[in-house]
Amino acid sequence: MTRITLRQLLDHAAEHGYGLPAFNVNNMEQILAIMRAAEAVDSPAIIQVSRGARTYAGDAMVTKMIEAAESMFPGIPVCVHQDHGNSFDTCRGAIDQGYTSVMMDGSLEEDASTPTSYEDNVSVTNRVREYAHAVGASVEGELGVLGRLDTGTGEQEDGHGATGTLGHDQLLTDPDQAVDFVARTQVDALAIAMGTSHGAYKFSRQPDSDVLAMSVVKEIHRRLPDLHLVMHGSSSVPQDLQEIFNEFGGEMPQTWGVPIEEIQEGIRHGVRKVNIDTDCRLAMAGAMRKVAMTKPSEFDPRKFLAPAMDAMTDLCRLRFEQFGSAGHAHQIVPASLESMAGWYADGTLNQRVSTS
Ligand code: G3H
Ligand code: 13P
Ligand code: ZN
Repeated sequence: MTRITLRQLLDHAAEHGYGLPAFNVNNMEQILAIMRAAEAVDSPAIIQVSRGARTYAGDAMVTKMIEAAESMFPGIPVCVHQDHGNSFDTCRGAIDQGYTSVMMDGSLEEDASTPTSYEDNVSVTNRVREYAHAVGASVEGELGVLGRLDTGTGEQEDGHGATGTLGHDQLLTDPDQAVDFVARTQVDALAIAMGTSHGAYKFSRQPDSDVLAMSVVKEIHRRLPDLHLVMHGSSSVPQDLQEIFNEFGGEMPQTWGVPIEEIQEGIRHGVRKVNIDTDCRLAMAGAMRKVAMTKPSEFDPRKFLAPAMDAMTDLCRLRFEQFGSAGHAHQIVPASLESMAGWYADGTLNQRVSTS
């Protein structure tokens, strides 16, 4: 069995000082791209599935495709994670299908756009954690609302993100509150708000500390050194991928993502999971555009999808290497969900999360 919980994987990453990219999937090509890249560099993998992906492909298709990939790449530990669960029911549904980890994004209401109160976030996250830990699955919580510090806006392009204008008190996770949140919810990992947002249009210039608040990561890590931090909205939106996309008929105005060096700095300060979707989309879309423009008579979908898969494989491989997870897959023996549940029950795992 190669399926692993997020908690076990991030504990290993913390012990060895690396971070893991968590890639979103919607189809076979994206799953194969991640697994081929992981196998090529001996990295464990986090495959994450949004509510949109579950609707797009259908739950049965998503779970069977991932199972098939696991059997094709038996040497790669795989964490299957629900991205941005919006309710207890969404998270329970994922766990019941064998996901080994869920994100309960209690920063927003079930509508995935209205910011919640702190107490409501604690309450729904706790409910999910009780259900998940009873069966050994892991929980990622979120404190603070993702969005741009310069405009005060959340990201709506994926139908997920805060509406209206947000203040810096909402857009930057409060370290004091993080200490309280972790003590009260016992989450395995915490997504924090620090100026990143979903999609391609994160920053209108090369980001500096005014718009990308790495200081928040550092302060929370100082206060909670054993807590696994998660950076969302962490595509780098590389210039070369923007150029390929635009060269072959795309229209993407100049934009900036999260620089790799900043993510690496985060990894040195407790960031263990780095969410990436946009870069994969851009890599695939650029490759498909190239075929469409240079081979206008082509109509076999495989001729579009194979280069798209190759482009995403290259991207994933690069991120595994840049974040330091390459070379670690063979060291990990996944614990069963039953074992994890036992360790939660006797308190062994939760004791790791200390405060200072
Ligand atoms: O949460 C953001 C991810 O990019 C997922 O996007 O909801 O369009 O699948 P999606
Ligand atoms: P990007 O849009 O930066 O790839 O972020 C993805 C993400 O955070 C998924 O949860
Ligand atoms: Zn996200």
